[in-house]
Amino acid sequence: MKKFLNKTELSHHLDAVKAKGNSIGFVPTMGALHNGHLSLVEKGLSENDLIVVSIFVNPTQFDNQEDLVKYPRTLDADISLLQTVSDTSIIVYAPTVKDIYGKHIKSQSFTFDGLEHEMEGAFRDGHFDGVGTIVKRLLEIVKPDFAYFGEKDFQQLQIIKKLVELHHLPVKIVGCAIHRAEDGLAMSSRNTRLTEAHRHSAPFIYKTLKSAKVKFGTKSAKYVTEWVEKQFKKQPLLELEYFIIADTQTLKPVKRKSTKKTYRAFIAVYAGDIRLIDNIALN
Ligand code: PAJ
Repeated sequence: MKKFLNKTELSHHLDAVKAKGNSIGFVPTMGALHNGHLSLVEKGLSENDLIVVSIFVNPTQFDNQEDLVKYPRTLDADISLLQTVSDTSIIVYAPTVKDIYGKHIKSQSFTFDGLEHEMEGAFRDGHFDGVGTIVKRLLEIVKPDFAYFGEKDFQQLQIIKKLVELHHLPVKIVGCAIHRAEDGLAMSSRNTRLTEAHRHSAPFIYKTLKSAKVKFGTKSAKYVTEWVEKQFKKQPLLELEYFIIADTQTLKPVKRKSTKKTYRAFIAVYAGDIRLIDNIALN
């Protein structure tokens, strides 16, 4: 498997690949890869000649220094996992912080038509400026035809689509379904940091989202939200940060349901120190 640590060498290699008429798909990640990431890589491989996977723990998108320091870094294991998918059609780009940011580890400031103020934007200061900065930079380095993002981070996916639209970036953004463990927990690099007891409790998150979806068929958003809040109060190991039913397009919390709109429920939960997010389409 080809691995590049440096953007200049990567660009040279990709220019040659593109000159031969190959299409390039791109899967940006922060590593600690799991089957959720692999599902994006596999979708990309089915639609492109070659996939670039970037592995970079982006410092500017962390609002919590401890989370940044403790974020798992497992490059060798990540490469071995990617090799199980393909050794020849995947290229790994694992840059250093210096390769991406130079001397100034700072994000650019973005607006995304207000998407950045909702949910994760409200609870994680500066997060989407950091995400916008790194994804724009990576797209400019890799110049892919398609880039793949998971619905696991649905707000991030919508923001990246907006980034590409507002900055006229020549790439098509493809959303990919949430990959779950057998017990329903959305796969996440953070899951490996859960204690056994928290891991055991965590499937309650998706179970509650599914019940919320059923209730939303007949009840108001306010009713469903209060019901979910009540369920979490009974869970000693899980602390609900937010449960929000929002318009899929604007991500604004729903006030009155309309049959013309689509909605999604979004949730963030602390299992001990570990923050988990998930979401579900409601209609
Ligand atoms: P990371 O959390 O590593 O996720 C990389 C990509 O994998 C994202 O598009 C994310 O939505 C997707 N993903 C993660 N878990 C998934 C799951 N269970 N099912 C489907 N897709 C899943 O998201 C980031 O990194 C960063 O913010 C990044 C975009 C790389 C910018 O630094």
